Amino acid sequence: MNSPAMQGLRLNTPAWVRNARLIAWVADMVALCKPDSVYWCDGSDEEYKRLCDQLVAAGTFKRLDPVKRPNSFLACSDPSDVARVEDRTFICSEKKDDAGPTNNWMAPAEMRASLQPLFDGCMHGRTMYVVPYSMGPLGSRIAHIGIELTDSPYVAVNMKLMTRMGRAVHEVLGVEGEFVPCVHSVGAPLQAGQKDQTTWPCNAKTKYIVHYPETREIWSYGSGYGGNALLGKKCFALRIASTMGRDQGWLAEHMLILGVTNPEGKKYHVAAAFPSACGKTNFAMLIPPQALGSWKVTTIGDDIAWIKPGADGRLYAINPEAGYFGVAPGTNTATNPNCMASLTRDVIFTNVALTDDGDVWWEGMGEAPAHALDWQGKDWTPHIAKETGAKAAHPNARFTVAATNNPALDSAWDDPNGVPIDAFIFGGRRSTTVPLVTESRNWLEGVYMAATMGSETTAAAAGAQGVVRRDPFAMLPFAGYNMSDYFQHWLDMERKLEEKGHALPKIFCVNWFRKGADGKFVWPGYGENMRVLKWMIDRIEGRTEGIETVFGIAPRYEEITWDGLEFTRAHFETVTHLDKDDWAKELQLHAELFTQLAYHLPRELSATKDRIEERLAA
Ligand code: GTP
Ligand code: SPV
Ligand code: MN
Repeated sequence: MNSPAMQGLRLNTPAWVRNARLIAWVADMVALCKPDSVYWCDGSDEEYKRLCDQLVAAGTFKRLDPVKRPNSFLACSDPSDVARVEDRTFICSEKKDDAGPTNNWMAPAEMRASLQPLFDGCMHGRTMYVVPYSMGPLGSRIAHIGIELTDSPYVAVNMKLMTRMGRAVHEVLGVEGEFVPCVHSVGAPLQAGQKDQTTWPCNAKTKYIVHYPETREIWSYGSGYGGNALLGKKCFALRIASTMGRDQGWLAEHMLILGVTNPEGKKYHVAAAFPSACGKTNFAMLIPPQALGSWKVTTIGDDIAWIKPGADGRLYAINPEAGYFGVAPGTNTATNPNCMASLTRDVIFTNVALTDDGDVWWEGMGEAPAHALDWQGKDWTPHIAKETGAKAAHPNARFTVAATNNPALDSAWDDPNGVPIDAFIFGGRRSTTVPLVTESRNWLEGVYMAATMGSETTAAAAGAQGVVRRDPFAMLPFAGYNMSDYFQHWLDMERKLEEKGHALPKIFCVNWFRKGADGKFVWPGYGENMRVLKWMIDRIEGRTEGIETVFGIAPRYEEITWDGLEFTRAHFETVTHLDKDDWAKELQLHAELFTQLAYHLPRELSATKDRIEERLAA
C-alpha cells in the first residue's frame, strides 16, 4: 500500500492527540483515501469561523445578512443529495439474521471488497478533516466517543454545532480510550490541479451508508447530506448504539426528551418516538397554551435518546447530541416560537430559499417574499409557485443550530446522569384509524403499540412519500440489528426494572395527524398537544379513569382540559373514534409485519395481537 510517507504527506498529528490506535487508523485511512492534506479539528470558535469563511469562498455557503441573521449561512445541496438514502444503507453483521429482514445486509467481507476500490483515492485533491466528538456530556458514563474522518468541511462545521466536538474529546480519549471510527467521503475525488465544478460535491451515482455492528465501524460514501454524512447522528447514535445497547443492557432510541413542569412545580420527564419529520422537534419545544395555567415544557433533546437503567430501577435518558438538525418547512412563530427564536443567529440552513434581502424563507414560515432564489438557485415568486407548484425550499430543508440557542433548553440537558423517564410516547403520522391518544394497559401492550406503529413516509428519506408503512418504534431505518431481537430487548427491560422495585414508565400512543372529510388535520396540534400531555400526567398521578378501548385506555371528552380551545365533542369524536373496519384492516397490517419478522418474534407480541382481535370481535 502507498504509505503517507511515500506520498510525502505528513499526518501533522498535534501534540494533544495521543491515542495510539487513533493515530495508526488515521495513517491507514490517509493511505487509503489519499487526501492532499490532513487537518485535525480542535473545535475552537476560531476554527469554526475559518472553515465557514472557507466554505463561503468555495461557494458552498452564502453568508446571510449579518443584521437580519447574524453569523448564519445557507448551503444548497446537489438536487440528487437531499435526504437519507435508506435503500443504500447497510447493516453488515456476520450473520444475515442479525441484521434482520428490515435492513439491507451484505456480508462484511463482501462489503469491504466493494468499498475498497471506492475509498481508494476518494479524497484526492481534498483535505481530510479529523473530527473528534463526544455523543453525550464529555466523560459521562452514558456517553461515547466517535472520530469522523471526512473530506467535507460542511460536515466538519455541522458536527461542531451538532456534537461536543474538539480537543477536549482527545483529553477524555487519552492514550488508550475507545472510539467508534467513522469514515466519510463525498465520493468526488479531484484530478491533479482540478477544481470543483460544483459547490456541493457528491457522487450522484454511487452511495453507501455502511455499518459493521460487530466491529463498530461506519463507512459512508457519496452523500454530503444530513444523516448520510453527519455520522454521529443516525449511524452512530442509533444504528451502532442500538447494538451497543443490546449488548450492554441499555436503549438507543429515535426519541425527543422533554421536561414538563406542572403549575405546582412538580416536574416529569417524557421521551417520545415519532418517525422522521413527524413532530419531535416541535413537541420537544412546545409552549403550553396559557389557558392551561403555568405549565412549562423544557427541551432535553429533539431527536435521539440514550437511556440506561439506574441502580434505583428508573430509566435515565441523555441527549447524545448537542444541536438540532431540524425540518425547516412548516416551522413558524405560531407553530414553534421557541424554534424560531433558536434560529435568529449562528445557524447553518440547508436547502431553504434565499430572499432578496439576504435572509431565508421556507413554505409555512409566513408571508411569502415577492421574489427569492429557491433551494436550487432559481428565481422563485408566489406566481411561479402557483403556476408550476415549485417549492422555494426543499421539503426536507433543514437548519443546524446549537442546543444552547434554544430558549426552552432544560437546565439538565447537559447533565451526565441524564433525567429519569416517567412516560414513553409513540406516535405516527396517520390520516385515519389511529386515535389521538391511548395508554397501554401494561408494558407488553405498550411494546406492542410501538412495535406495530405505522406512519406515512415523509421527505426525510428519499423515495415515495405519504405511503403508510410500518415503522416500529420509529426505528425502521435506524435499528442496527434484528427488529425482533430489538422487541425482545424492550420486553426484557420490564423484568430488569421490576426487579429493582420502581414503577415502570407508562407507555402512550398518539396521533396528531387524523384528517377530516375536508382533508385537513382535525387536531390543532403543536402547543395544543399540551392538552394531551396533561392528560397523560393526570394518568400517571391516577387522577382520571379513562375508557377501555380495543387499543388501550382512551380519555373521556371531559378528561381533557378544553379551556381556551374551541374543540367540540364532535371534533373529539373525529380524532378519537375507533372504526371497526379500519381496525380489522389495521390488524391485517400488524399480521403482515409479524409474518415478515417471524424469526425471533417474541411470542407475547403475537399473543397480544390475538387478544386485540378477540376484543375487536366481541
Ligand atoms: P426528524 O428531524 O426528521 O427526526 O423530524 P421531527 O420528528 O423532529 O419532526 P419536526 O418536529 O421537525 O416536524 C416535521 C413536520 O411536522 C413540520 O413540518 C411540522 O410543522 C409538522 N408538525 C410537527 N408537529 C405537528 C403537529 O402537532 N401537528 C401537525 N399537523 N403537524 C406537525
Ligand atoms: C431523520 O431523518 O430522522 C432526521 C434527519 O432526523 S437526518 O439527520 O438526515 O437523519
Ligand atoms: Mn430523526
